[in-house]
Amino acid sequence: MRPIQKILIEPPTGKKYLVKDLEEDFHTSRGIIPKKELASGKTVVTSSKGQSFILLQPSFPDLWENLERGPQVLIQKDIGLILAKTGVNKDSVVVDAGGGSGSLCLALANVCKEVTVYENNPEHFRILAKNVALVGFKQIKLKQEDIAKGIAEKEVDLITLDLPEPWKVTKHAEKALKVGGFLVVYLPNLLQMKEFIQSTRDTSITILETIELLERKWKIDDRIVRPEFEMLGHTGFVTFCRKL
Ligand SMILES: C[S@@+](CC[C@H](N)C(=O)[O-])C[C@H]1O[C@@H](n2cnc3c(N)ncnc32)[C@H](O)[C@@H]1O
Repeated sequence: MRPIQKILIEPPTGKKYLVKDLEEDFHTSRGIIPKKELASGKTVVTSSKGQSFILLQPSFPDLWENLERGPQVLIQKDIGLILAKTGVNKDSVVVDAGGGSGSLCLALANVCKEVTVYENNPEHFRILAKNVALVGFKQIKLKQEDIAKGIAEKEVDLITLDLPEPWKVTKHAEKALKVGGFLVVYLPNLLQMKEFIQSTRDTSITILETIELLERKWKIDDRIVRPEFEMLGHTGFVTFCRKL
């Protein structure tokens, strides 16, 4: 169950507003939408300045865009890669650490049966809990704990690690994963990745591949069809492993 909130989309720009309180008039840069309109059940509502808006139930990406940003989040290109390569689904049991701002764990919970999240920093834990409440997922369990001290969950399908010292978690991950389960490690720096990969020696964790995914956006507007001038050059390396 998700909290009652709506997304307002302004045509034709596609600009979005998250309406958290349907019992208050909502202010946009193109006028006020009266609370009566918000509660009317209509899909198209009109502001005090005569602008039409589309009023919908927010999708997961609509809510994801509204997460409070604390620690650096995993972005959609890397999340998509993890979902595609591990094939997690409605039957999957997942452990994620560190939870950070909740971007990855919420995207996992959007498709998985159960996601347990470890986050040991109290301020980051507060942001994580707030973001989980915004989305309203009940299939997420939050633990304010250091994952380097151990993983209580067993027979896990996927463990994701987005934290600075994943090599301290390798042995715990090996115990918690089911045979054939995936361990995915995300790191911005290849020297850290090397240290993690070394930590898997003499374990049943097999390294499958390390990927850096680059995303280039294009400007498409009337007579202009070309790549954007600016590009996000680097986010991180993703290493996929499996317990075999
Ligand atoms: C880069 S952030 C994770 C961002 C998250 N994946 C997201 O998409 O929003 C790294 C987080 O790991 C947490 N962390 C670092 N070491 C940890 C540990 N041993 N146990 C639990 N959390 C840890 C940090 O406090 C920080 O919030």
